[in-house]
Amino acid sequence: MEQKLENIRKDATEKIEKALNTTELENIKNEYLSRKGELTNIKKNLKDLPDDQKRIIGSLSNEIFNSLSVLVEEKYKKLYNEELRQKLEKERIDISLPGSYTPRGKVHPLTQTVNEIVEIFEGMGFSLIKSENSPEVETEYVNFDMLNFPPEHPARDMQDTFYTQNASNVILRSQTSNSQIREMLNHKPPIRVISPGRVYRCEAVSARKNNLFHQIEGLLIDKDITFGDLKGVLNEFIRVYFGSMRPTRFRTSFFPFTEPSAEVDVQCIMCGGKGCRTCSGTGWLEVLGAGMVDVNVLKNVGIDPEVYSGFAFGMGVERLTMLKYAIDDIRLFFNNDVRFLKQF
Ligand code: PHE
Repeated sequence: MEQKLENIRKDATEKIEKALNTTELENIKNEYLSRKGELTNIKKNLKDLPDDQKRIIGSLSNEIFNSLSVLVEEKYKKLYNEELRQKLEKERIDISLPGSYTPRGKVHPLTQTVNEIVEIFEGMGFSLIKSENSPEVETEYVNFDMLNFPPEHPARDMQDTFYTQNASNVILRSQTSNSQIREMLNHKPPIRVISPGRVYRCEAVSARKNNLFHQIEGLLIDKDITFGDLKGVLNEFIRVYFGSMRPTRFRTSFFPFTEPSAEVDVQCIMCGGKGCRTCSGTGWLEVLGAGMVDVNVLKNVGIDPEVYSGFAFGMGVERLTMLKYAIDDIRLFFNNDVRFLKQF
């Protein structure tokens, strides 16, 4: 019996040493050490042996079992590590290979400006207008009449308008102020909206003017709104947009739909007020039109001017973007030259 056990030890040890991979080793382990393995069999049958043999064979078979287990364990580690190494070698990724270039899209600089400005006003409690209250194709009635432009009034010529061929009174809006009317017709005060969008004017295209450009309109209607509120809101906007507190100047102006009206200048960001090419030597840059909503406009949309008052303002997105990034030709925004666009 002892001899038989020693043979098992010898055979098993040899096989373990020769095993080439973990699968082979698993099989050897099953053959000798599993519950159906040879050693377990002998241990199971110990009870049939004479007493003196029982002890000797019992401890010998335990000893062999344990030492074979250790051998299997050690060999397993070795084989496993080797297999892992080979696998990693085989599946290695060559990270030095240059990737294929995928050009990344960017947000257009005008859209960036719109997003930035809308966010500033949202921070002051304005919300973005619903698109149905700010259409690009508009009636002359909303774009002009409702906004208190008298018929045949030269103010209509200020904004050379594109008429459509289908109907004489359907136009491409010349200003985002049409959204004031639609917003006030569809909502009761208090109103606080910001309305960005495209506008169209039939003008000769130049470095400063394009037929299509963008405006952002703001409208606030509530009780007890004063010109002081308008100044506060616009000064705060200019502070955040241009990144620091800058002197502003509210100049008397005229718009048919606001009274009083103002044009708002900000101290030139290029020269700090000394006078340069950007500000044509004046030290000031005009950035906005604004004013208190005209009583006639409130009446036109059925809001009682005895109870409510409010202000409106409008600004040019191209102009604000050109000032911020020192861009000298408006046409760059529309040519879609990637060399220009990718700088933003
Ligand atoms: N709609 C005016 C323009 O295009 C700007 C403006 C808007 C002025 C709102 C006052 C109030 O010139």
